[in-house]
Amino acid sequence: MTNQAVYNELASKYQAHFGFEPEVVAYAPGRIEVLGNHTDYNEGYVFSAAINFGTFFAVRRATDKLCRLVAGDLMREVFFDVDAIEASHDDTWQNYVKGTLAGLAQHGSVECGFDGLFFGNVPLGSGLSSSAALEMSAALAFAELYDIAVDPVTLAKIGQRAEHDYAGCNCGLLDQISSLAGESGKLVKTDFRTLEYECVEIGEEVCFLMCNTLSRHTLVDGAYNKLRAACEQCAEHFDKVLHHPVQALRDVTMTEWVIYKRDLPEQIANCGAHPIGENERVLLGARLLERGDLTGFGALMFDSHESSRVLFKNSCEELDFVVAAARKIPGVLGARLSGGGFGGSAVVLVDPRFAVTVAAALESAFAAHYGYPCEVSVIIPSQGARLVRTKACGRLSEAKP
Ligand code: GLA
Repeated sequence: MTNQAVYNELASKYQAHFGFEPEVVAYAPGRIEVLGNHTDYNEGYVFSAAINFGTFFAVRRATDKLCRLVAGDLMREVFFDVDAIEASHDDTWQNYVKGTLAGLAQHGSVECGFDGLFFGNVPLGSGLSSSAALEMSAALAFAELYDIAVDPVTLAKIGQRAEHDYAGCNCGLLDQISSLAGESGKLVKTDFRTLEYECVEIGEEVCFLMCNTLSRHTLVDGAYNKLRAACEQCAEHFDKVLHHPVQALRDVTMTEWVIYKRDLPEQIANCGAHPIGENERVLLGARLLERGDLTGFGALMFDSHESSRVLFKNSCEELDFVVAAARKIPGVLGARLSGGGFGGSAVVLVDPRFAVTVAAALESAFAAHYGYPCEVSVIIPSQGARLVRTKACGRLSEAKP
């Protein structure tokens, strides 16, 4: 479904359900993580991109304190009081919106409830960060609705807090920053220590395929949090043994890891090696991109996956299969898992002239092996989150998604 079609459906669902038009509509895209896995909470670097799939959030102020929230795909509706926002343990989808609104309320006054409906085309649980798309579309829409001025990094932190406190995943800021900062045709390179980001041209000689293995991808089940805790344990160790301060694994080089890992349990040491190596790969990747060396950049993506598979152990059989299959297909420059891991999607860097044949070859190799097809989509680095309809603008039909 195109974004225009999603938007049209959102508008008609909203009107049909509530009987009036929304005052505000915001859009936020999902993201791909191109290089730099689990480096964000280790204060390192990541190359990512906002994608051409996202979520629209439409909302209007209520005259009382009641919040009515509808998930537009299944038209499920929940009700809550704006002064008593609590996470739900049954219908967890609402927690991303509730957490975002609760976070925003700390920056301004949220005096009334709302009538809100969201609808999007980011495949759920695919590793494309549908939750950040929901948080950032809700955050932008609520900020406009309630006249709360917040800068993008604060918005991203509000989304991250919603994940931590309402959804139970201690994620970094990658997904939210990518969703906000993306630009058309560009990668976002973020330094997660300073939270500064820049958008870098990727050129027209490459495009991305996302290969959704449809295998399980749940970061809330504790696996992600355990990896994060292992990285933090590793950083504490290096802070004690190195002769310079280590605030996070960003401060440790691969050479230091090799020399000083010896007192760490092997599994913890290997966990630490992954973000340390990833940081070095992102910095090298930036130099390769400047020189236009896309083959070299693609090779770093393969290395990144290997590090996930062997050291960090956040890959899975299906992702390993896709990456190994991709290596053998002409026109593929690189492939790796994207995001938290444990399932979901692999991102594949391809020469656009071969995109269609690569997609078909991946689909048929996967189907032949697993007996069911994977889903391959072309990903276009796209503009980040934005308001589609503001309180001051005209009728909904005049707004442009
Ligand atoms: C998930 C998290 C991000 C990041 C990636 C791994 O997408 O939400 O914060 O840690 O995994 O790089």
